[in-house]
Amino acid sequence: MKIMFLGAPGAGKGTQAEHTSARLGIPAISTGAIIREAIKNETAMGLAAKAYTEKGALVPDEVVIGIIKERLEMDDCKNGYILDGFPRTVVQAEALDAMGIEMDAVISIEVPDEAIIARMGGRRVCPKCSATYHVDFKPSKDGVTCDACGEALTLRRDDSPEVVADRLRIYHEQTEPLKDYYASKGRMKIVIGQDKVEDTTALTDAAIDSMK
Ligand code: AP5
Repeated sequence: MKIMFLGAPGAGKGTQAEHTSARLGIPAISTGAIIREAIKNETAMGLAAKAYTEKGALVPDEVVIGIIKERLEMDDCKNGYILDGFPRTVVQAEALDAMGIEMDAVISIEVPDEAIIARMGGRRVCPKCSATYHVDFKPSKDGVTCDACGEALTLRRDDSPEVVADRLRIYHEQTEPLKDYYASKGRMKIVIGQDKVEDTTALTDAAIDSMK
């Protein structure tokens, strides 16, 4: 299956993409994670993207479209994949269409802005394997290191309150219109994000299974 997760920053796209990847055995592709890895490795693309991500702005369309084209050509995408964080503009969605790619399921995870602002402060990430936790809602076993690889957990630079406010504004201006874009194609389901991760997961699984 080809599955897309839409939703505001912090809505839980990455959390549900990670779960769905394990459940269906297809890779979860996060443009945000690819960009963060490039920034960490100081590649040319990473150095160009850094200034945008740090202030919560979108990386230019042509850069992100190039990243996705290259990633979707890899062998592990042959049986399907999950897009997390792409597309984020109508230009990016049109680029996906131009590649001849049709999604089987588009899941829009909806969470009010106030709940997102409260969530972001508690997010912790593993700088090594990118696993995501939350101090209250999804803590790691010891609260300070990654369950998967033992690395010390850190905060994301773009989770400061000022940057989160900008990311939300950009989401509403540039990404939210994609809901209408995909709803009109008839393959979109809305999942209302719940207070508990496992409750959102149950709704997400049901929405995906209904579109198989
Ligand atoms: P990206 O990494 O994609 O960030 P984002 O979309 O802003 O989304 P997040 O990763 O912040 O949140 P999420 O929805 O995945 O939530 P999560 O599951 O982590 O992109 C970062 C930057 O890269 C962008 O700002 C941009 O600059 C650039 N970029 C990326 N893609 C781009 C593109 N296509 N075009 C241009 N630029 C691009 O959950 C959040 C927290 O809440 C976690 O701590 C989690 O444990 C917790 N949580 C999750 N679900 C629940 C729940 N149900 N209840 C309680 N807590 C929950």
